[in-house]
Amino acid sequence: MTDSWQECMNHCVDITKQAGKIVREALEKDIAVMEKSSPTDLVTETDQRVEKLIISAIREKYPTHCFIGEESVAAGAPSVLSDAPTWIIDPIDGTTNFVHRFPFVSVSIGFTVNKEVEFGIVYSCIEDKMYTARRGKGAFCNGLPIKVSGQEDITKSLVLTEMGLKKDPEHFKTVMDNIQKILNVPVHGVRCPGSAAVNMCLVACGAADAYYHQGIYCWDMAGGAALVTEAGGVIVDITGGPFDLMSRRLIVASSPRVAQRIAQELTVFPCGRDDAP
Ligand code: IPD
Repeated sequence: MTDSWQECMNHCVDITKQAGKIVREALEKDIAVMEKSSPTDLVTETDQRVEKLIISAIREKYPTHCFIGEESVAAGAPSVLSDAPTWIIDPIDGTTNFVHRFPFVSVSIGFTVNKEVEFGIVYSCIEDKMYTARRGKGAFCNGLPIKVSGQEDITKSLVLTEMGLKKDPEHFKTVMDNIQKILNVPVHGVRCPGSAAVNMCLVACGAADAYYHQGIYCWDMAGGAALVTEAGGVIVDITGGPFDLMSRRLIVASSPRVAQRIAQELTVFPCGRDDAP
């Protein structure tokens, strides 16, 4: 029997390579920066152009499929996950990094059917690392298998997070207090590389042992979720319960023990849902 989702994945890898080339070429030119919801929430013409290219190339081949794309949602499109085959797209994950030419910038695409992630592609464009994972078939970087560190001991872990957009002072304080609590466990260190999708790939390939975040979006998580799971890692809610792709929060880790230990430390704050009316 042919695997039709594998065909979608092959198509997606080709499109992601083209998108990554556009992102790299854009880094050679002047980058015009626009603000979205706040002075720290940035978008560029390249984010918008790349998303349009990805959606039109997929729609041409799969006209009945659904899309949730960061820039389409910013322009007013709905962000609702149904059982239909759905492409969840972040054209540039790490836009602030892109603007500053800080080298963690990715194109991230996750594909869901019946709300389950079937495959994820994350292309870290500047590093030229193509991360791919198909459900049940393992995780790869540039075609070579990758796996999580398997670390079980939080005190020997390198933990990733992000500091967020700092819009709400109370939430921002909680974010900073949470970082302090994790540092005090103690852990080996905390890092904020600036692209959620790359963070998940760093856990997937064992370069970091965990990543947690409250306040991101489904397009930041969908591609990387497949990578972490297929690399043998775990993905849970920030409370330690089951992961929900539309919940805007997650912990990914090299082992259930590390994930639950992080959940135990964190103070949770309300960050809304992607599919909130
Ligand atoms: C952002 C990055 C960043 C995270 C933000 C995200 P974007 O994605 O993943 O690491 O801190 O919360 O929104 O906006 O560059 O696609």
